[in-house]
Amino acid sequence: MTMTSPVTKLTKDVGTTIKPGPMVVAHPDQVVTDADLKAMSGTTGLNGPFLADLLGSFATHENMGVNLFRTLRAVSANPMLQTSYTKFEADAVVAVEAYETLITALGGRPKYISPPGRMTEGLDSKMIESLQGSGSADPMTVELKGVEMALLAATMCVSNVALLTRIAEGLDEGPAKTAMETAVTALYGPAEQHLEWAAKTQQTLVLTQVKSRLAQQAGAVMETVAGKIKDVLT
Ligand SMILES: [Fe+2]
Repeated sequence: MTMTSPVTKLTKDVGTTIKPGPMVVAHPDQVVTDADLKAMSGTTGLNGPFLADLLGSFATHENMGVNLFRTLRAVSANPMLQTSYTKFEADAVVAVEAYETLITALGGRPKYISPPGRMTEGLDSKMIESLQGSGSADPMTVELKGVEMALLAATMCVSNVALLTRIAEGLDEGPAKTAMETAVTALYGPAEQHLEWAAKTQQTLVLTQVKSRLAQQAGAVMETVAGKIKDVLT
């Protein structure tokens, strides 16, 4: 049974729960407390409420990755970049599923919106919102910034998987450790691929332009420069 939410934002209407903060209030039906989140303490021997918050934020970042790659695909005019963004969006959906499966296996709540999850959503939202400035930039700058957003997002994905790996290493043999290792196996490869692709593509875009005599010419037609980049990427 899949538990992935085919939505890019977890909202009240999909059955979310939340831990209120200093400036957050919620309906009593949706409120969870640290006492409610202790289940992960029993399955892992760790600080359950903290782990629940942490894994919730990891799932949120991947869910925001779905948003990001869908947006980048729509903004990009380059078929090669669009193909990569389409693949990365699908990978992000699978990553959300991997985290939700892990959270459930550890006794947690897949649709729990944690305080670090809320701040993660805010952070990632700002990155996507910055594309609203695309009207003030030439097409090549927009493509480069899109690739750099993928670079930043993938860096966090890789860091999160590294943290999960370290946490799993500290657990005794048992179902919780196995569940974490299963999640790491599913998450590690795509995250590394996204990061590697983004770093390589950033270099291609920058080095092609910095060496381009065409781009040095005052008044060079940007479409022509973009065509040159397209040749490099295809
Ligand atoms: Fe990711």
